[in-house]
Amino acid sequence: MARLRNLVILTGAGVSAESGIATFRGPGGLWEGHRVEDVCTPEALARDPALVHRFYDLRRAALDTVEPNAAHHALARLDAAWPGDLLIVTQNVDDLHERAGASRLLHMHGELRSALCAACGIREGWAEALPPETECPNCGMLALRPDIVFFGEMPYQMERIEAALAAADLFVSIGTSGAVYPAAGFVQTARHYGAATLEMNLEPSGGSHWFEESRMGPAGALVPAWVEELLAGA
Ligand code: OAD
Repeated sequence: MARLRNLVILTGAGVSAESGIATFRGPGGLWEGHRVEDVCTPEALARDPALVHRFYDLRRAALDTVEPNAAHHALARLDAAWPGDLLIVTQNVDDLHERAGASRLLHMHGELRSALCAACGIREGWAEALPPETECPNCGMLALRPDIVFFGEMPYQMERIEAALAAADLFVSIGTSGAVYPAAGFVQTARHYGAATLEMNLEPSGGSHWFEESRMGPAGALVPAWVEELLAGA
């Protein structure tokens, strides 16, 4: 452990599950109640903007009712204390990592509390509902959309992520099913560049066999224990 310096931590919906935010796949998951192609594609937004906006409005409003859990707090503590490079790459569009205090953080699939203007490209912090007829505060066009990476669109900051993976000594994946690329392929990239790899998830994920070590259980218990272990050896 003492030789570790650069960490990349990928998080998914499982990290926020114990805060009361539904995951996507599996029983009770968001994609069980909604078809991805109805609410999470550019085509859906063009076809039925009111439906797409309402879906994300409800999820944005639900953020007011949840709090970071022990996993978010442990990762924020690691972020503050870790002497080497560290990057938390989250697939989550909630804001629980930053509310716990994490700052070396990147939202690769966008953020619920942000609006993106499809006309001028500006991003604007957004806490309220976002009806389709809202004017962009910058260019005045009716082109504001949720700042969410839809299926078929390129995740954010891929170059920065690739660079961090190439420099990583340890890649850790927490609470993600490994069903969605490119995030599901990060473990292979990290291994290619020589990083050690660790997965923490409730159950084996789609890519479990790629990880050198897998720990199964709830993130709220596994992550704080792992952070203590890591900081004890730092
Ligand atoms: P998924 O819903 O696909 O997977 C969540 C994973 O978390 C599953 O493997 C669960 O077993 C695990 N899990 C559930 N509760 C947990 C807990 N308390 N502790 C640890 N693990 C737990 O969510 P993601 O992998 O994040 O993209 O999904 C990836 C992307 O697919 C999302 O970012 C989203 C979705 O479509 C977009 O919306 C662009």
